[in-house]
Amino acid sequence: KYEKTYFMPPVVTYDWVKKTEIEKPPVWCSVDLRDGNQALIEPMSLEEKLEFFQMLVDIGFKEIEVGFPAASDTEYKFMRTLIEKNMIPDDVTVQVLTQAREHIIKKTFEAVKGAPHAVIHLYNSTSVAQREQVFRKSKEQIKKIAVDGAELLLKLANETDGNFTFEYSPESFSGTEVDYAVEVCNAVLDVWKPSADNKAIINIPTTVENAIPHVFACQLEYVDKNLKYRDNVVLSLHPHNDRGCGVATAELGILAGADRIEGTLFGNGERTGNVDIVTLGLNMFSHGVDPKLDFTDMHHIRETYERLTRMHVYERQPYAGDLVFTAFSGSHQDAIAKGMAWREEKKCDTWTVPYLPIDPQDVGRKYDSDVIRINSQSGKGGVNYILKQSHGINLPKEMREEVGYLVKGISDRAHKELTPELVYQIFSDNYINT
Ligand code: KIV
Ligand code: ZN
Repeated sequence: KYEKTYFMPPVVTYDWVKKTEIEKPPVWCSVDLRDGNQALIEPMSLEEKLEFFQMLVDIGFKEIEVGFPAASDTEYKFMRTLIEKNMIPDDVTVQVLTQAREHIIKKTFEAVKGAPHAVIHLYNSTSVAQREQVFRKSKEQIKKIAVDGAELLLKLANETDGNFTFEYSPESFSGTEVDYAVEVCNAVLDVWKPSADNKAIINIPTTVENAIPHVFACQLEYVDKNLKYRDNVVLSLHPHNDRGCGVATAELGILAGADRIEGTLFGNGERTGNVDIVTLGLNMFSHGVDPKLDFTDMHHIRETYERLTRMHVYERQPYAGDLVFTAFSGSHQDAIAKGMAWREEKKCDTWTVPYLPIDPQDVGRKYDSDVIRINSQSGKGGVNYILKQSHGINLPKEMREEVGYLVKGISDRAHKELTPELVYQIFSDNYINT
C-alpha cells in the first residue's frame, strides 16, 4: 500500500519551453573530489585525489571543487598540498565547501590561505523538512544562518591572503518553497553585493531529486527571473539523480537560464549520484556544440576513475560503458555495416550511421572490437564484417548466408560470444582446411 504523500514542488513559470537547443556549454565544475568522494565506500587517499585532480585538469575542467577542508585531515592536507606544491594551473580555480558555521568557515579559510584563486562555497539547508525536523528553526532563523555565514566569508576574505569568489547553495532547494529559497539567496547577495568584476555564484541543488525535470526547469526559471544582481551572478545547478533524471534536469535547467553545472564523471556522488558530466558533455557534442571537455581517451579516463574510486562503470553507461556501441543483432549489424560503407562512399561530414549515436572513434573506441560482435543473435553481415576486418576476407554474396548460419549456430549451441579469432577458425576449418 502506498499511503504516504510527498512534497510536491509547485509549477511557477515556463518560458524556457520555447527553447529547443543548448547553444553553448555551461561553465563546468567537477565535484568528483568532494560530493563524489564523500559518497565512496573508501574515500580517496591524498595521493589518489592528486592523481584524480590531474585527470580533471587534463580533461579540461576549469573549476574543481576539491573538498571540504574542515571535514577531515586528508581533505585539509589535500588543499594545502595543492597550494604549497603549486599544483593549480593558472587557468584553473579550486573550490572548497563549507557549512555556514563559524568554526568551519574559519578552518576553511586557513586551508585556502595563499591559493591563487579559490571559490568558497557556503551552504545551509533551507527545506521545510530540515527546518522543522533537523534544525527546529523558523524561516527567519534559517535565513539568518545564511546571512551570518555570508558576512563571515566577506570579513575573512578581506583578512586572508588570496583571491576569492563566493558561492552560496540553499541546500535541499528541491524541498524548499521556491520563493523562500530566492529570498534567502537574495539576502546573501545583499551581503556580498556582487559586481561585474567580482561575481558571485548562486548554486541551486536538487539535493534529493524529487521533481519531473520540466517542473524543476520552471522553478529554475523563477530563480533566474527573481535573483537580485542577476547580471553579476553566475547561476549554477547541482543536480542529483534520485529519479534517474539528473541529465534531463541539467539540460532543461540550462534552457531555463543556468550558466554553470556542478557534476561528476560517470555520475558518482551521494546515493544515485550527481549528474554525469560525461553524458551531458557528449550529448552536447552530438548536437554540434563543443563541450570544451576532452573525452577522446575514454579508456584512460574510465580506467583511472575505476582504479581511484573503486567504482565500476556500468556496461550500458552512456558513451563510456563496454557495450554502448556494440551490436550483436543481425539487423543492427547489417545496418551499421551498410551505413559505414555509405559514409565512406559519400565522404559525408555529418554522422548518420544507424544505431550509433556518435562516431565511437570520437571517444577512442574501435569499430572492429567495440561495434560488431558475434553471438547467436548475429547475422551474415556481421560475420562477413568480422572476417573482413580481422583477416581481410570478403565473402562472395552467395556464401554469406551459409557461413553466417554456421557461425551463429555454433555460438547458439555453446551459449557463448565468438571472438574474431574463433569466427575465423570456424570459417577456416570448414572452408579452407577441408
Ligand atoms: O547536494 C547538495 O545539496 C550539495 C550541496 C552542499 C551543494 O552537495
Ligand atoms: Zn550534492
